[in-house]
Amino acid sequence: MIEDALGDRSLVVVSNREPYVHEYADGEPAVQRPAGGLVTALDGVVAETGGTWVAWGSGDADFDPAVAPEGEVRMPPEARANSADDRPGYTLARLDLPRRLVENYYYGYSNQVLWPICHLEADPVTVDAKFWPAYREANRRFAERAVAADPDVVWFQDYHLGLAPRFVREQRPDARLVQFWHVPWPTPEFFEICPQATELLRGLLGNDAVGFHLERYADNFRDCVARFVPDAEVTDAGIRYDGRLVETYASPIGVDTERVADNARSDAAAHYWERVVDRYDLDPERPVVLGVDRLDYTKGVVERLDALAHLLETTPELAGEFTYVQKGTRTREGIPAYRRYYDAVRDRIAELDRVHGTEDWTPALYIEDDVDDRELAGLYRNADVAVVSSRRDGMNLVAKEFVAAQGRPFPNAGLAQTEGLDNPARDRAPGALVLSRFVGAAESLCPAALPVNPYDVSAFAETIRDALEMGEPERHDRMASLQASVRGEDIDAWLATQLDVLAGRERVVAADDD
Ligand code: ADP
Ligand code: F6P
Repeated sequence: MIEDALGDRSLVVVSNREPYVHEYADGEPAVQRPAGGLVTALDGVVAETGGTWVAWGSGDADFDPAVAPEGEVRMPPEARANSADDRPGYTLARLDLPRRLVENYYYGYSNQVLWPICHLEADPVTVDAKFWPAYREANRRFAERAVAADPDVVWFQDYHLGLAPRFVREQRPDARLVQFWHVPWPTPEFFEICPQATELLRGLLGNDAVGFHLERYADNFRDCVARFVPDAEVTDAGIRYDGRLVETYASPIGVDTERVADNARSDAAAHYWERVVDRYDLDPERPVVLGVDRLDYTKGVVERLDALAHLLETTPELAGEFTYVQKGTRTREGIPAYRRYYDAVRDRIAELDRVHGTEDWTPALYIEDDVDDRELAGLYRNADVAVVSSRRDGMNLVAKEFVAAQGRPFPNAGLAQTEGLDNPARDRAPGALVLSRFVGAAESLCPAALPVNPYDVSAFAETIRDALEMGEPERHDRMASLQASVRGEDIDAWLATQLDVLAGRERVVAADDD
């Protein structure tokens, strides 16, 4: 399906984050997969469609002569290494952006202006006069590289690239341009904090179609256009602008459910979990509560740790009855708010352990291992409760991965349970999911996932307790319903919509029409 969708039209994907990064390890370049929903979702797709993927080369070994002297490298790595992998693969074209530009464009405008605004966080918004010119310049460079690949179709990703579509449109009026916005879009009342609201919207209106995870984000976008772009006309059929019709659509991103389920049953998953159990001397009888996050203030990790502290203060009989495991990944460390957030998370974990820990019980662990997706699935599958408590999140794939990793109700689960290591996780009851109401995934996963308001600490604590105490039949019932939702909106469903939109097929409807 994927290979044929675009016929012989050439595809260029453009994103800020690259799908694979080369970093030096013991003096040698080694390839790694960055944490983040966008690259996880897209890599498999572009491996099938082929084409060019333009992204910022952020790794310290990205331009090593042994890796990619001109900044271009064939991906995914297994497609190069394994001739049996007959997927076409793609060319990763890395942009070598100067440090100053990255500071002001990525650490500046993208992540200190747009990211907090889209996530309805006014406090971290920092406006610096150097940010906007750098954002323009970076977008110009991304656009130039995309045009150089002579594309018929360009697929832009996310909020780092708000101006690039307009730049490409000026040079390639004939190309089809589509953008997927992976984070929420705020209401006009919030978006007006953005000093460049109108220019940014004009940049995005260079596209033929702009996609969002949810209808309400698409509605907000259309409301913002109506308010801030006087020469655009918002109609039921789309947005009339500059002699063209720009469509908006909603399409919730999902995960590759079979792959995650297979990962969770793999020997690598079991081995990794065994290593964690050994390293931290975990009692196999003690339930595990799990958090997996990029350490971003939008993820509500601090609120979660406060809820756990509250739980132990108000319900002392729970002492020793569970272990909280935080799998963290540092992120955007060039921004002071992120460095402070990392410290706040570590401090709160240390405080939990200091106040509530005993000689034989450490209430909370922090793990920062670089894990691959099978090892991560090992954590998911061995957790009795997962807590996703974002203050705001466009979708949140961690929640969906956790569900897919629980495995049992998937059709081939019985078969795989007879294979491989003797892994008790394969037979255990599914985990329970505690999920913030403020993530896109809550729309389809709640109330089968236990909904929480992460700001309401005592109710949040009670919900974690409910999840810990949930009986096996209820776990199975809820998980069956969660898995049906996650399968119904999986990565293939998302991809099918994106391919229709990229190909300009009829199925795109204005978000208001449904
Ligand atoms: P975001 O896109 O904001 O990072 P998502 O939850 O949508 O959030 O996607 C995060 C992706 O990155 C998931 O695929 C998840 O597996 C991975 N990820 C997130 N946090 C970690 C972590 N601490 N360690 C390893 N992988 C992580
Ligand atoms: O999904 C939202 C997103 O911002 C992606 O665009 C991005 O790749 C991911 O989160 C991780 O953030 P970053 O690329 O800044 O590390």
